[in-house]
Amino acid sequence: FFQYTNYRTSYHFQPSRNWINDPNVRQAPSYVFVWTISGPMYYKGFYHLFYQYNPLGAVFGDIMIWGHSASYDLINWFHLNHALCPSEPYDINSCWSGSTTILPGSKPFILYTGIDANGRQVQNLAMPKNLSDPLLKEWVKFSGNPVMTPPNGVKKDDFRDPTTAWQGSDGEWRVIVGSRSNNQGMAILYRSKDFMHWTKFQNPLYSSERTGMWECPDFYPVSINGTNGVDTSVLNPSVKHVMKASFNSHDYYMLGTYNPQMEKFFPHTDFEGTSSDLRYDYGKLYASKTFFDNVKNRRILWGWVNESDSRQDDIEKGWSGVQSFPRQIWLDINGKQLLQWPVEEIETLRGKQASIDDKKLESGSVFEVSGITASQVDVEVVFELPELEEADEFINPGSVDPQLLCNDKNALISSRLGPFGLLALATEELTEQTAIFFKIFRGHNRFVVLMCSDQSRSSLRKDVDKTTYGAFVDIDPRQEKISLRSLIDHSMIESFGGRGRTCITSRVYPQLATDKAARLYVFNNGTLGVVISSLNAWSINKALIGEEESFKV
Ligand code: FRU
Repeated sequence: FFQYTNYRTSYHFQPSRNWINDPNVRQAPSYVFVWTISGPMYYKGFYHLFYQYNPLGAVFGDIMIWGHSASYDLINWFHLNHALCPSEPYDINSCWSGSTTILPGSKPFILYTGIDANGRQVQNLAMPKNLSDPLLKEWVKFSGNPVMTPPNGVKKDDFRDPTTAWQGSDGEWRVIVGSRSNNQGMAILYRSKDFMHWTKFQNPLYSSERTGMWECPDFYPVSINGTNGVDTSVLNPSVKHVMKASFNSHDYYMLGTYNPQMEKFFPHTDFEGTSSDLRYDYGKLYASKTFFDNVKNRRILWGWVNESDSRQDDIEKGWSGVQSFPRQIWLDINGKQLLQWPVEEIETLRGKQASIDDKKLESGSVFEVSGITASQVDVEVVFELPELEEADEFINPGSVDPQLLCNDKNALISSRLGPFGLLALATEELTEQTAIFFKIFRGHNRFVVLMCSDQSRSSLRKDVDKTTYGAFVDIDPRQEKISLRSLIDHSMIESFGGRGRTCITSRVYPQLATDKAARLYVFNNGTLGVVISSLNAWSINKALIGEEESFKV
């Protein structure tokens, strides 16, 4: 009935086979410029992506390693030798997540979690064997490993995932490690003068009673105005800090201030442990990491997008896990949240285009976007709402979980304004469809914009998880049109609502709406009309993602 090969993505990063999870680190390696001997690579440099990988199968493994791939454009990738594999007592049971930091003089270091011979989580250091190799194919483990072991009060399996380090004005390096102690999730802070000897600071940089164990923390500055990123060590009045932690299957973040004298992070609002906490993505995205790309002065986010099919499906497919498309990330001008947008390099993959302007979508209409390959597409639609003031009143209490509103069986049934949006990976008869849509309500003095990604009809297959996702979009539709961009890639749909204010990623496994049979529609099920102010959709060509030999750089 269905072919597992239909679910492989065309422009999202995947190894050729087996299980992947956390993108361990990636770096814009300006350092390769320094040591590259000759050739065209000198002018190009490479992005490196390291990730958790099970070389032996399509499920999470007892022995996890660091896979390594490189790219000169964030689009096309070639796979390299594994960067780190278990070999020593301090990592013999796995090389788990961590980060890289580029030290002055363009010296990259990896800090990673080893599972030691006693099943203990310890932090280890590794450096490139040969700095003149721009691909950094070989890594050497530091003879003084481990450099950090679980401190008193921390269980041996609650101590992992060191971040990219930052350097204070005193010249000392700081790094945080995800942990849990006394029922508090936390970021334990370590400091070092030489990057090799690390001392735990007395207090965590931040801890919270309302979270579980912190996995893959990330801590970095963002400019308070503009979309440019800054290096992880930047600390001045023109930045705020972001603290991200992964728990309960989601990536949550807080915005706040880092005080280096007190070695404390002061968030504007603490984690509440409710749906009001800010998330990078309200669908599937976990264990993400950012890095500062100094080639283009931007900060880029990568996240692991897990499967929604069964373990047995993964074994049949022979692979599991995809990385999100790299997203530029910056602070909203209102200072209240982050914005995310696919990196501009995606434009190099654009093929055939379809455009629609100024088209009224009457109540109940479904309109096909034709002339593109709907299984591999980048689409952005902007809606105008001429009858905004007529929107239904928002009758739900302030604390309502938007995902529950989207999960309501009636979500796809009409209100006055909405649902309207896209039907992705749909069959001609709409027997299969993933609806990504908005509903707009009138609240007290403001409008409420709800964004949903409804997977309930995404496949005729019964054995896959079809959870519907939803979130509010903090946007005033009186001031701004409502936009939706979706990157559709066979089994992956990454959606960006309100110019990157709200992101929802989903995995879907259509039985019929695959490859050439897939269709894309715009729809309006609200009782009031809406207008497609503009729509642009591009077929996206297949990226080159393969073994090194298959590449000509
Ligand atoms: C998050 C995580 C990390 C750990 C890694 C192991 O998905 O559990 O905490 O280091 O995966 O693969």
